[in-house]
Amino acid sequence: MLLNKDTDLSLTIIKQFQTFLFEKYGYDFRDYALSSFKRRVEHLLFFFKSGSVNDLIRKIDANPSLAEQAVKEITVNTTEMFRDPSFWRKMRDEVLSQFVSSPVIRIWHAACSSGEEVYSMCIILQEMGLLDKARIFASDINSEVLANAKSGVYPIRSLDTTKSNFDRLGTSGKLENYYKVSSDQTTIKYNESLIKNVNFRKHNLVSEEGFSKFDIVLCRNVMIYFNFDLQDRVMDTISNSLFKGGFLAIGSKETIVWCSTAKDFQPLSVEEKIYKKIV
Ligand SMILES: C[S@@+](CC[C@H](N)C(=O)[O-])C[C@H]1O[C@@H](n2cnc3c(N)ncnc32)[C@H](O)[C@@H]1O
Repeated sequence: MLLNKDTDLSLTIIKQFQTFLFEKYGYDFRDYALSSFKRRVEHLLFFFKSGSVNDLIRKIDANPSLAEQAVKEITVNTTEMFRDPSFWRKMRDEVLSQFVSSPVIRIWHAACSSGEEVYSMCIILQEMGLLDKARIFASDINSEVLANAKSGVYPIRSLDTTKSNFDRLGTSGKLENYYKVSSDQTTIKYNESLIKNVNFRKHNLVSEEGFSKFDIVLCRNVMIYFNFDLQDRVMDTISNSLFKGGFLAIGSKETIVWCSTAKDFQPLSVEEKIYKKIV
């Protein structure tokens, strides 16, 4: 689609759109990294068949239900089961293994998207005999992906990647024990028992405080969309949500070195981006 003159997506137009979403609906994207946010707005224009950002604002202004839809299209929800298998091996062998004798393991999946990260964790915990004592919160800004996460239903075409990632974990367990294929063979559904100790909740990392203390926080592949200032603020929330001795996992392309809380952490694995909170 050809964009109108007012949609060369100048900084002013982008800022105008961010201000509109914040002032009208409370969604604060003002400190998201500019280049990726700009690409998402381009996508949004296409998605809503809008020729200009002003037209987009008019549409969303007139129909509040479009705001939630816009948030879904602005945020990148890409995820997969056992994403980065070497990360999950490290998580299992060097983090979760430390909790074998603990009475409880409190875990927060911050920005869990459609839940694949959560099911991956639950399957590994089950394989280790630790699932019963896990208390898990899984949150995201987007209620649609959270509903998907709760349902545990995923397209069958995702299975190839899931199986290959699972094989790379080097476990004797069988993935087939954890899901059922639908009668029309189009989807799979993970066993509900896997998420019996999971509490899914809508939570905005930008505008809300943490809500509890955890032994492990996974906040993977979301801070990459934030500018440094926002990464710093979100890391503050996360650090405050971790017990001393707790573990933080971030995405493979992310870093906490810029953040003022970096001094509170020491790396457990530089390659897999897992840190231990030391204060
Ligand atoms: C790329 S996915 C990452 C999913 C998963 N953690 C992983 O690594 O595979 C990023 C998720 O962050 C969520 N997100 C973006 N901004 C957020 C915010 N301010 N608060 C909470 N979640 C947010 C998006 O809705 C999306 O589901």
